[in-house]
Amino acid sequence: MDKRALLDAAIAVCKMAYAPYSKITVGAALLTADGQLYTGVNIENASFGATNCAERTAIFKAVADGHRKIKAIAVTSNLKDFIMPCGICRQVLVEFGDPAMEIIMGDCEDYVVYRLDELLPNSFKPTDFRGEKRHV
Ligand code: THU
Repeated sequence: MDKRALLDAAIAVCKMAYAPYSKITVGAALLTADGQLYTGVNIENASFGATNCAERTAIFKAVADGHRKIKAIAVTSNLKDFIMPCGICRQVLVEFGDPAMEIIMGDCEDYVVYRLDELLPNSFKPTDFRGEKRHV
């Protein structure tokens, strides 16, 4: 699946967003290492704090189905400018993606592509839990 097709899947699901508060509808589509497609939308909450971003909805759906390796993710929204993943979503992507994982942001006409380690450099990551890195 190419970048355009992944972004088109994000655009298609965007209408399912539940965003009565911000009115910002976001759609995400990811490709797992074994070639499965998962989509997600932002799901807001009256408490605001319980809101879940589109990226994390897609990631959590994939992980709940047993897919722990994400190859690429595409994100779109109803905003004029391309939406950038929030900090929490970047950290969750680090958990399930390689530093070179591609993150595609765009709309029907155009897109930009970033590597995960460009969006979250020097991240705290799963391998940081290895004992040999401890100083004490
Ligand atoms: N949102 C996402 O779904 N993904 C992002 O990366 C940025 C923000 C959503 C969360 C909330 O529903 C709305 O956009 C405004 O923050």
